[in-house]
Amino acid sequence: MRPLLILIQFLHVTQLKFVVEGRPSDIVSRGVHKHAGHSLSLKRHRWPEGSLRLQGTRNIVDNQHMKYVVPVAVGDQILNAEIDTGSSDTWFVQTGCRCYHTYDNTSNAFVTPVNSSVCNFGPTYTPGNDFTLDSDIHQLTCYGAGVGTRRCVFGSFGFTNVTINGFTAPQQIIGAVNETSNYGMGLPDYSGILGLGFSGGTMAYNSTTNASTHYSSLVSTLFNTPEFSSRRSKQFSLALSRDASNTGYGGTMTIGGVASLTEPSVNATSASFTSAPLQIFPNTSTAEYSWYSIYLDGFEFGGQMLSLNTSTIIDSGYNGLEIPREIATALNDHWSPPGNVSGTTVFLDCAAKLDQPFGMTIGGATYYIQFADLVGQMANGTCYSLVIAGLPPNGYSIGDPLLKNTLAVFDWGEMVMSFYPRMYYAS
Ligand SMILES: *[C@@H]1O[C@H](CO)[C@@H](O)[C@H](O)[C@H]1NC(C)=O
Ligand SMILES: *[C@@H]1O[C@H](CO)[C@@H](O)[C@H](O)[C@H]1NC(C)=O
Ligand SMILES: *[C@@H]1O[C@H](CO)[C@@H](O)[C@H](O)[C@H]1NC(C)=O
Ligand SMILES: *[C@@H]1O[C@H](CO)[C@@H](O)[C@H](O)[C@H]1NC(C)=O
Ligand SMILES: *[C@@H]1O[C@H](CO)[C@@H](O)[C@H](O)[C@H]1NC(C)=O
Ligand SMILES: *[C@@H]1O[C@H](CO)[C@@H](O)[C@H](O)[C@H]1NC(C)=O
Ligand SMILES: *[C@@H]1O[C@H](CO)[C@@H](O)[C@H](O)[C@H]1NC(C)=O
Ligand SMILES: *[C@@H]1O[C@H](CO)[C@@H](O)[C@H](O)[C@H]1NC(C)=O
Ligand SMILES: *[C@@H]1O[C@H](CO)[C@@H](O)[C@H](O)[C@H]1NC(C)=O
Ligand SMILES: *[C@@H]1O[C@H](CO)[C@@H](O)[C@H](O)[C@H]1NC(C)=O
Ligand SMILES: *[C@@H]1O[C@H](CO)[C@@H](O)[C@H](O)[C@H]1NC(C)=O
Repeated sequence: MRPLLILIQFLHVTQLKFVVEGRPSDIVSRGVHKHAGHSLSLKRHRWPEGSLRLQGTRNIVDNQHMKYVVPVAVGDQILNAEIDTGSSDTWFVQTGCRCYHTYDNTSNAFVTPVNSSVCNFGPTYTPGNDFTLDSDIHQLTCYGAGVGTRRCVFGSFGFTNVTINGFTAPQQIIGAVNETSNYGMGLPDYSGILGLGFSGGTMAYNSTTNASTHYSSLVSTLFNTPEFSSRRSKQFSLALSRDASNTGYGGTMTIGGVASLTEPSVNATSASFTSAPLQIFPNTSTAEYSWYSIYLDGFEFGGQMLSLNTSTIIDSGYNGLEIPREIATALNDHWSPPGNVSGTTVFLDCAAKLDQPFGMTIGGATYYIQFADLVGQMANGTCYSLVIAGLPPNGYSIGDPLLKNTLAVFDWGEMVMSFYPRMYYAS
């Protein structure tokens, strides 16, 4: 999920502008990924059967529908956190956390307390002796761009060792969230977010001045350890699973390398491997990397290229595509059977298919998307299109539909994102 950049006067956050200064990504030569790294299976969580927890269409736009989580060790606890390449803060919901309806950006406060059962998170984090409070900064991260409600988390930051896939980020800053309007929604293993972005995307505030500040993100800390400085590739890869068999298997995350292409659950081919350089997220006031932003050449649909002349964030915490309105509309006009448009939602038959092949073109190679990966399902069983008109200035996002059809490499060594196609795999 992409943090929403809230514009609070005293925080001196500059309004985002989309500065188009690059060009579509060049084809980059084939990368050689030497180290196998440590792989880990991802769990896939669906909405519990029969649950009716959607808070209206905001949740749909915002991907609070399904999550990919991995176990993370903090102190003597192991908690599952959502794999999120669209944000940079790693946090866990703290035992005793207060739950609110929304966060008001005018008064800068959470408003309308609600029963904590509404938040409905999985196991909660109890900071122990491992957790050293950092009283200089605090966390306030808001996700997505909801209408009427803001889903934010607030709490203390502290230092602790964070271990994932057998690698430890020593004394990493994590959030111990004690107030939230961002809900767990009854997903049994959802205890927080693993923010895999760059340090520039961290959302911290100076506790004295409230000024926005940054800290070393989890991946930054990890890739600066001696282990990664000398022996391992500074990259991680994701091969998300569409979990056709409903077993709860969510795919593979590999840190320090790339998953095996021949693994049946990956089944990637190097035939059209390409890379695209990472872009500084358009932000006129900083030259830091925030998230995994790349230029797509565009979308290929029915043999035509619909070009996308701006950078796009690759966001594993988002279950859909948030793209320009003209392109979203062009695609949504081609569902078979046709969809029913209601406000910003396009309701679909759950077996609906686009009537022409659809792919995303990156560095000259087109990665085709299985139609099933473009159809979302709400808790009540209703299906809808995951092709959604984006909302600048928050920008465009490409989420799980691409990540379920490729093996994606997030490469801090070369500062590129690389993709191997994998439409068909054991899932
Ligand atoms: C609060 O959020 C709304 C909607 O995103 C925005 O239009 C408004 O400028 C924000 N107000 C402040 C004080 O940041
Ligand atoms: C399911 O929920 C959505 C969103 O709240 C609503 O628009 C739709 O009508 C519901 N469908 C059924 C069959 O209840
Ligand atoms: C909060 O919700 C729980 C579970 O639904 C219920 O048992 C409890 O009474 C509620 N508490 C309050 C203060 O309403
Ligand atoms: C944290 O990790 C560092 C380095 O891996 C280690 O030296 C230290 O003992 C660990 N601290 C705790 C509390 O486990
Ligand atoms: C949450 O933590 C902050 C900072 O430590 C504190 O000021 C606030 O009172 C806490 N809120 C709750 C509900 O415990
Ligand atoms: C917080 O702001 C104060 C006053 O400008 C500054 O001295 C301090 O270094 C800042 N702390 C952090 C952690 O940024
Ligand atoms: C920082 O923000 C908090 C919460 O909105 C507010 O109570 C406090 O007065 C602010 N401090 C400064 C120095 O602006
Ligand atoms: C943009 O730059 C400002 C000032 O450095 C910073 O506070 C803000 O977090 C940055 N936004 C992003 C998305 O990096
Ligand atoms: C991309 O956008 C820039 C600035 O808006 C414009 O000058 C340029 O012509 C556009 N390129 C294409 C291929 O549309
Ligand atoms: C769309 O609307 C038509 C006419 O009301 C209805 O028959 C059909 O079932 C609807 N399809 C979906 C996917 O909601
Ligand atoms: C792997 O992909 C090929 C096509 O590229 C397909 O024929 C084969 O069945 C796939 N294997 C699995 C295990 O899905």
